[in-house]
Parts: sequence; C-alpha cells; structure tokens
Amino acid sequence: MESSRELEGQVALVTGSGSGIGRAIAHALADAGARVAVTDIDLEAAQRAALEIPGAIPMFLDVTSPESAETRVAEAEHVLGPLDILINNAGVSTMNRIQDLTVEEWDFNFDVNAKGVFLVTRAALPGMIARRAGCIVNTASMAGKRAVPLLAHYAASKWACIGFTLSAAVELGPFGIRVNCVCPGFVETSMQERELAWEGELRGLSPAEVAAGYIRLTPLGRMETAADVARTVRWLCSPAAEFVTGAAIDVTGGSHLT
Ligand SMILES: NC(=O)c1ccc[n+]([C@@H]2O[C@H](COP(=O)([O-])OP(=O)(O)OC[C@H]3O[C@@H](n4cnc5c(N)ncnc54)[C@H](O)[C@@H]3O)[C@@H](O)[C@H]2O)c1
Repeated sequence: MESSRELEGQVALVTGSGSGIGRAIAHALADAGARVAVTDIDLEAAQRAALEIPGAIPMFLDVTSPESAETRVAEAEHVLGPLDILINNAGVSTMNRIQDLTVEEWDFNFDVNAKGVFLVTRAALPGMIARRAGCIVNTASMAGKRAVPLLAHYAASKWACIGFTLSAAVELGPFGIRVNCVCPGFVETSMQERELAWEGELRGLSPAEVAAGYIRLTPLGRMETAADVARTVRWLCSPAAEFVTGAAIDVTGGSHLT
C-alpha cells in the first residue's frame, strides 16, 4: 500500500465490509487516512473487521432495505461527520442453469447487487448534493460486461450496476459527485469458495480443478486478491482520480479478455 495519507480527514462508508473485498477496501481507505463506517448485514463480521481498523465503527446495514440505508447513513454521518466517500460493495451470488433458476434466486441477486446500490446511493445523495462533493465507487464485476454461463442472473444484476453507475456519473457530475465502478475477475473470497463448490458440482469437477481453470483464464497467472481490488478503489477515491467519473475499471489480471 502507498504510504501517503491522501484521504486524511475524509469519511467513508463501505457496504458489505465485514468480509472479503469490502473488508480490504475498508482497510485501504483507513490506511489512506479516512474514518470508515464498516457496515454489513452480518453485524458480528462488521464488528470483527472494525476492530482491526483504527478509528472504524461497525454498523448493521442491510442494503436491500430503504429504512436501513437511510437510518445508517444518517447515523454514520452523526458519528463520523459528513460522508465524502460511499463504496457500494455488498453483493451476493448463486449459481444455476437458467431452466432451474428460481424467481427467488433472481430476486435475491437483483435485490442486493442492483437495488442495494441504488438505495444506499439515494440515502447518501442529499448530503453530497448539498455539499457539492462526493465520491461513489460500486463493486460491479467482470460478469457485468460479458456472458457468464450458470451466472446469467448474477451477470444481469452486475450489468444493471454498471448501467446505474454510468448514468449516475452523468446526472451527478454537475454536483461535483464522481461515480465509478470496479469490475473484479476471480477474487479469493468466501463468495468464490461457494462458487467453486457449486460450479464443481454442476460441471463434475473438484473445486481445485475449477480454481485451476480460473487461473488458466488469467493472463497474469494467479488468483486475484481482495487487496488487488482495494488498491484500485483507493486510487479512485484519491485526488489523483479527481477527473475520473463514469469509469468501469477492469481489475482482473486480464481475465476479462480471455
Ligand atoms: N469474489 C469474486 O470473485 C468477485 C468477483 C467480482 C465481483 N465481486 C463482487 O465483490 C463484492 C464483494 O464480494 P466478496 O467476494 O467480497 O464476497 P463476500 O461474500 O466475501 O462478501 C460480501 C459481503 O456482503 C455482505 N452482504 C450480503 N448481503 C448483504 C446485504 N443485503 N446488505 C449488506 N451486506 C450484505 C455479506 O455479509 C458479506 O460480508 C460483491 O459485490 C461481489 O459481487 C466478487
């Protein structure tokens, strides 16, 4: 990580930061000097993550609930100060063939990955618009730019996330608010662990064989880490990216091209 404190004095809220990519993003923003609200639907995970991060506060926030989004954004601003940075990172996935996909699975993926991004953004906007400043980064996915068999519903929800990001960038630019997203590839997290098992079962492979296939599809030749994504998010939040908005940045080791 960089040694500068380029986000000193800023306040950030990260959704789904009890584990995985969100937790790494919370660490990276705190390393850069931000005070971070570590929020998750799993309060205990948020509490564990916040304990590792100087100055961080843990919070329950369910991104699928408008009330939860509004109450927790207000609470974070009350405790930490006006929100400079919002990271919409919470996400879920399931894996299934389309003919077996249930409406519940479809809704579960869309409620968190698409509607959740909208709800927490909407809750943060009145303050950001009034201050004419803000930085929003959404965790989309490589699946939001391409075809992904067995993950059609997840891919559709991530295409929605990217569509929302680009549209919001245009609408909110005149208020000084930047909106970008990162599109990770195959990242070592608990979500990936579940996917390796599901994909192995559906394709008759062991989880280790599926993982080896992911690495073969990655030109840089290794599995992606949560820290790889977090470094890019940190940069997007920094003054170095002050003229970057409406970007959907591939952080994949090149696997989005294979
Ligand atoms: N792991 C990958 O390979 C990969 C690749 C591309 C994109 N992503 C995206 O990265 C993001 C983080 O995923 P991860 O891999 O770290 O997974 P993860 O399962 O480790 O972390 C996701 C976190 O989101 C939380 N969460 C789930 N539903 C929530 C809700 N309704 N409200 C608030 N929090 C909720 C979970 O409790 C968990 O802590 C997701 O948006 C995911 O789609 C992951």
